[in-house]
Amino acid sequence: MNFELKTFDLAGAANEKCDALVVLLSQSFKPGKDVLSAFVTQTLKAGDLEFKPDKPLLLYRPAGLACSRAVLAGIGDGSAKEVRKAVAAAVALVKAGHVKKLAICFAALPQEDAVRAAVTAVAEATYVFTTTKSKPEGRVVQRVVVGLPGPSKLKPVFDRAVAAVAGIEYAKEWANRPANHATPTLLAGAARSLAKFPNIKCEVLGPKEVAKLGMGSFMAVAQGSDEPLRLIVLRYVGTLKSEAPTVLVGKGITFDSGGISIKPAAEMDEMKFDMSGAASVLGVFRALAELQPAINVVGVIPACENLLNGRAVKPGDVVTSMSGQTIEILNTDAEGRLVLCDALTYAERFKPRAVVDIATLTGACVIALGAVRSGLFSANDELATALLSAGESSSDLCWRMPLDDDYAEGLKTNFADVANVAGRPAGAITAAKFLQRFTQKFPWAHLDIAGTAWKSGVAKGATGRPVALLLEYLLTSAKPR
Ligand code: BES
Ligand code: MN
Ligand code: ZN
Repeated sequence: MNFELKTFDLAGAANEKCDALVVLLSQSFKPGKDVLSAFVTQTLKAGDLEFKPDKPLLLYRPAGLACSRAVLAGIGDGSAKEVRKAVAAAVALVKAGHVKKLAICFAALPQEDAVRAAVTAVAEATYVFTTTKSKPEGRVVQRVVVGLPGPSKLKPVFDRAVAAVAGIEYAKEWANRPANHATPTLLAGAARSLAKFPNIKCEVLGPKEVAKLGMGSFMAVAQGSDEPLRLIVLRYVGTLKSEAPTVLVGKGITFDSGGISIKPAAEMDEMKFDMSGAASVLGVFRALAELQPAINVVGVIPACENLLNGRAVKPGDVVTSMSGQTIEILNTDAEGRLVLCDALTYAERFKPRAVVDIATLTGACVIALGAVRSGLFSANDELATALLSAGESSSDLCWRMPLDDDYAEGLKTNFADVANVAGRPAGAITAAKFLQRFTQKFPWAHLDIAGTAWKSGVAKGATGRPVALLLEYLLTSAKPR
């Protein structure tokens, strides 16, 4: 999809040739002398238009307008949330039509986050996954024009949003692929293909190299599958090599059966999404490729399947992680933390300014926060605040959870330095406490995206979260001094 930013007021919007024109109207709307304003005034008078974002009004071949269809959509107070709703509802209204070129115009100059919301919402509303369909019917909308009334400083914000969309859609593509179309090897291939862009390099380690590094924990998860593991390392160098990078570590379990602690059959297919953290890292790199910002970023993805065979790791097995700490694997379904802990230790070599891991880590986080906010865990206030506010401004929300040491009590065991599970209470926090043991050498944050990375039911599919959050964080916080 191709995005373009234009400057036009409602009179200009009336002349914009397109298959559908969406006019975003806030409740403080003041009509001008143009045709569009006249339509708005009439529909308001008739009581057919409200400024609520879920009640857009469709005009077909409206006289005096260059578009084939116009949608008048209220955006209430003009907040990002209302804009997102309005754009989604407006696109749904014209979706059946053959809308190849879509224009979205703001009647009044919007805030930054409202521009972001419009761009990401139109992408979201028109996204289609086609990779595994025999007769793909792809996205109809090809061109999107965003119109702002009068000149503004919003161009960089717009460019960022467009790059975020490229990243979000890259993450969705890989997360949506079924496990047999997204093996660790194929995921590594996707990472390699990103290295075609300027300033991106990719290195992929296989079982031998990973064994040499002493990643006994990661290897224990992978040993129950015939698919070989991959440790994927991406580097984006946009500024001096001496600038410490931010490291993003993404959980890359391409399928999570639970292993010997096998999961129930119902909805097990959704465990193909268990590499959504990895997909978000790939997505961020896709966006960096577009934007080429002056920062340094490293991506580390431990990728493998969590399956079960005659060699699979068993409950009670003790393994030695790369950090030297021994781990008693009491539940083979708590595999995410087992691959992440070695990837976190590996991250030390980059002398990072910060490390953020992203993982569909616990069902407990779904229970705690649902699909609205990702779980954020960090002992570092500065890092936590930066991630929280990046979430707010990108409308990709998270919520800080506690990390008191008392939560780690349940991870104690008589047979190793640490167990990989505690009891059921506070499951998202005990998982984070496990990871924290491997993060002593750098500022660290953990995002549990188990509830936010995909949707279930009829709308089943990856969301591309938290690419927008991460990108916003990197662009605002990781600037070299
Ligand atoms: N990938 C799952 C977490 C998950 C579950 C994400 C449901 C989204 C929906 C993870 O590997 C897992 O199985 N976690 C266990 C941990 C438990 C055994 C301590 C869980 O949450 O049940
Ligand atoms: Mn699991
Ligand atoms: Zn998992």
